Amino acid sequence: MTDGPLVLGIETSCDETGVGLVRGQVLLADAVASSVDEHARFGGVVPEVASRAHLEAMVPTIERACRGAGVALTDVDVVAVTAGPGLAGALLVGVAAAKALALALDKPLYGVNHLSAHVAVDQLEHGLLPQRCVAMLVSGGHSSLLLVDDVTIGVEPLGATLDDAAGEAFDKVARLLGLPFPGGPYIDRRSSEGHVTIDFPRGLTSSKDIARHRFDFSFSGLKTAVARWVEARELSGQPVPVADVAASFQEAVCDVLTRKAVDACTANGVDHLVIGGGVAANSRLRSLAEERAGRHGIAVRVPRPALCTDNGAMVAALGAEVVRRGREPSGLDIPADSSLPLTSVII
Ligand code: KG4
Ligand code: ZN
Repeated sequence: MTDGPLVLGIETSCDETGVGLVRGQVLLADAVASSVDEHARFGGVVPEVASRAHLEAMVPTIERACRGAGVALTDVDVVAVTAGPGLAGALLVGVAAAKALALALDKPLYGVNHLSAHVAVDQLEHGLLPQRCVAMLVSGGHSSLLLVDDVTIGVEPLGATLDDAAGEAFDKVARLLGLPFPGGPYIDRRSSEGHVTIDFPRGLTSSKDIARHRFDFSFSGLKTAVARWVEARELSGQPVPVADVAASFQEAVCDVLTRKAVDACTANGVDHLVIGGGVAANSRLRSLAEERAGRHGIAVRVPRPALCTDNGAMVAALGAEVVRRGREPSGLDIPADSSLPLTSVII
């Protein structure tokens, strides 16, 4: 669909300042400024540093998005912004900018849920979402399986991580292996040079665990197992085979994620699986999901990697969809809600 209002989406929930422009399901621009390099030496995102970086990047990123789409700010019809969940101070910068724009342009404002936006972004790549799908969101902050009927109304949580998020596990294991932050892309790359030689544990997959946590995840045991393995190797004076450890760890994560995602689809009679969040950029996760889902006649929808990691296009995509579905805008007095629940798509 190429008609509909021009929606500007702003994303600042973590370390990416994203501004996207979308009309219908057509992506016109996706400008992202990341402060990831400023956090690298701390091995994780430092909230105050992220907030300051958003403040500095906001106006230039909005200008870059408008230039990229060949539109003027005054052409914007609707402003959408991530209102939560995320880092409180970081969210505040985006919400304040969106309010200022909506007020100055006299246009409606939608404060939306970051996780729903990770699902909605797939519409820019593969067209309207099916009537019903299972979404697996795997990022630095979340690992969830969700049942989605209408992404603008809310989603039914099927399961989530009990401890570390999948991306967090990638980042922590990368650190153990001396790889830079954020670790996911480095583990992905190094894995392709190695082999799956170590059988690391698959959390919450025993029959006892499945009885209580069928669709939940746990990655902290896996992380500890990798740490012990590396430690034992170092103590014995042998070199650590980084590529093999990375490949074996990645296989354990992707095995559990895809197994549970396919199980969630078959248990709910759903034949579409949408995968989103930064970890959806992982090459092994993508291929294993295709392979396993394909065996059950389930179609996998994964946006291209740049749309999987945090960006403004996903917020604009959800904004366009809430407008298409006739949802009411938010008021100009919306808060930034760092723990916005999944059941709240528009704040
Ligand atoms: O969705 P996202 O950009 O931000 C959050 O909302 O957290 O996800 C970032 C996470 C990081 O933990 C990063 O290591 C991971 O996504 N990631 C990957 C890959 N690319 C990014 N993990 C595994 N393989 C990748 N190729
Ligand atoms: Zn995210």
